[in-house]
Amino acid sequence: MKIEKPKGTRDFAPEEMEARKYIEREIAGMFTRYGFRQIRTPSFEHVELFEKKSGEEISTHMYAFEDKKGRMMCLRPEETASVCRMYAETLRTKQKPLKLYYFDPMFRYEEPQKGRYREFWQMGLELIGPSGPESDAEVISVAYESLKKIGVQNVLEIGHLGVLKGFLEDRNVPEADQRKILACIDKNDIEGLRKLSVEKALYELIGLKGGKEVLAKAEKHLKNCERSMKSLTELRNIIDTLDFLGIEYLINLGIARGLEYYTGMVFEIRVAGLGAQNQICGGGRYDNLIELFSGLSVPAVGFAYGFDRVVEAAQLQKIETPARTIDAVIAPASPEMKKEAFKIAAALRKDYVVDYDLMDRKLGKILEYAAEAKARYVIIVGAKDLALGQVTLRDMTSGEQKIIKIEEIGKALK
Ligand code: HAM
Repeated sequence: MKIEKPKGTRDFAPEEMEARKYIEREIAGMFTRYGFRQIRTPSFEHVELFEKKSGEEISTHMYAFEDKKGRMMCLRPEETASVCRMYAETLRTKQKPLKLYYFDPMFRYEEPQKGRYREFWQMGLELIGPSGPESDAEVISVAYESLKKIGVQNVLEIGHLGVLKGFLEDRNVPEADQRKILACIDKNDIEGLRKLSVEKALYELIGLKGGKEVLAKAEKHLKNCERSMKSLTELRNIIDTLDFLGIEYLINLGIARGLEYYTGMVFEIRVAGLGAQNQICGGGRYDNLIELFSGLSVPAVGFAYGFDRVVEAAQLQKIETPARTIDAVIAPASPEMKKEAFKIAAALRKDYVVDYDLMDRKLGKILEYAAEAKARYVIIVGAKDLALGQVTLRDMTSGEQKIIKIEEIGKALK
């Protein structure tokens, strides 16, 4: 019987895992330097957690199932709701701000295509407690600097949901219609917007994109709209902080985000050349989500990278990731030498990456294997040398061989 992997999932070969691990380490290193600490939440949760506030868009793509006791469960499609649940359940008495990050697989039942999978990894963080512009800027800054660290070229776009929501509220658009309109804006569904007969001024507003001048242009549309004007001021304060930090961005008032819990600043990062799925990061402020689970009003802001897309962007931009290195392959020259060779391998493994021939191959074949594995050295253990406490060290780059004392192998590999 031939069994294939499920649609929308992937296997990762060692080379791919090494590249992914490298990128994970670099990003996690930056998160740590900003003071974020890793957490992990369960892979599945009660379905209500995500139905409650993640929004309709996500609800239609959930991997939901009934467990043996008839409870409805769901593989997590995202982790922000889980972090808020965890905060309410176990972290609410901790000192704030709480700086939490995660690197976990997410599951969404979507139609797979390049850059869009049913199982994918997110590397994200949540800053819980503060609400000032510096906290928004801190989160944008860590997203920006982590990509800079690995060298991925990108475009960072920032908007504010309060601007759009204020505009719609001011026109007394009912809540349900507001959601529909924001969903259409998120998907760039112009036909859908037409059906909802939104007014021309909204198209103009969501079309505003560029530098700081965008804020002044937006003000003209929003003069009598109190919430929108307040949101523009908030956005301006965040932007001023980003300018101060030297972060490059585009203001885009048409960012609506697919998840419904956002309340303020929102941002997305895109990479040119990735095709339709070019958004490698999304996030923003969600000041009401924790309240929903705990009754406590606690502001928060965060983002998540689509980790797979970050890796694809790095590959597209030909960013080199370090390949694995083998310091030495140990080659017994004859079957009688196997045990001794094994002992040498075991001792060297305290400090070095060492491989040992387990295939009972002749020396020539071991050398071929070592060359393909890009090993730095081969250590040949022969009876005559060993009787004198020595081995033969072959430099795989130069092809040179020399006899050295067993105690000196460690030094030679340095
Ligand atoms: P999201 O925009 O739904 O936000 O997902 C974040 C990122 O995950 C996206 O920008 C995209 O790169 C990646 N992504 C989404 N779906 C897929 C998929 N099917 N295959 C591959 N990559 C995908 C959230 O999930 C929020 N929880 C982010 C957040 C954290 N907001 C505040 N804190």
